[in-house]
Amino acid sequence: MIARSENEIKKLREAGGILAVILNDVAKKVVPGISTFELDQYAEEAILKSGSQPSFKGYRPWGVATAYPASLCVSVNDTVVHGLPSQRRLKEGEIISLDLGLEWQGLFVDAALTVSVGIPLPEIKRFLEITKHSLDIGVEKARVGNHIGDIGAAIADYAEKAGYSIIRELVGHGVGEAVHEPPQIPNFGRPGSGPLILEGMVLAIEPMVSLGKFDVILADDGWSWKTKDGSLAAHFEHTILVTKEGPEILTKI
Ligand code: MF3
Ligand code: CO
Repeated sequence: MIARSENEIKKLREAGGILAVILNDVAKKVVPGISTFELDQYAEEAILKSGSQPSFKGYRPWGVATAYPASLCVSVNDTVVHGLPSQRRLKEGEIISLDLGLEWQGLFVDAALTVSVGIPLPEIKRFLEITKHSLDIGVEKARVGNHIGDIGAAIADYAEKAGYSIIRELVGHGVGEAVHEPPQIPNFGRPGSGPLILEGMVLAIEPMVSLGKFDVILADDGWSWKTKDGSLAAHFEHTILVTKEGPEILTKI
């Protein structure tokens, strides 16, 4: 969306603040032995307690046959995004991406992060840090007068120089008045390409990065996107507002 009123901007800021706190609380619950279902339950209860609504539950992305059945996406190890909560218990050394969205007074925000279960190996710690930083680098390009392609170009340049691959089949998106809105925001591209970035745009920027190759496949559950080569994948996402002064991260803790 393009936020045109002070009232919309105020509500978006509130929504982002609520989501940031809840997502970080969910991340703190990630310990060996917890199930992904328990994480989803915790996230859903926290959202409802805040007076907002889970926006993924019941949502049907374009091209998908069924509605998403949970509030939180839990993507473990080689799952890139949209993993379904289950009774599966997390084990020391695994990584998990937590992706959460909510609706607050008619406005939608979306955020994700990847954490390790227990203490990560140094190469996994580096992988998560670099993917996280690639998000900051992309956000920095979300400025009035730039193009959407500038965001992905900067993300890919940084992540690929570090030795990782950018997932190409999954993209960021506009957000604000629905879970997904135009424009699509690829995490790679040519500087200066794509739509012009305008003041008031609300964007979900979300690099998805693989430790191996970038090819992905949709799993039999119809939701989970996994790396084809089985390598680990990480995912960080913020909802941002493009202001005259630059990008404002709405989902920052
Ligand atoms: N944050 C997710 C995305 O941008 C939204 C998932 S909606 C769901 O793709 F329904 F697939 F969960
Ligand atoms: Co998103």
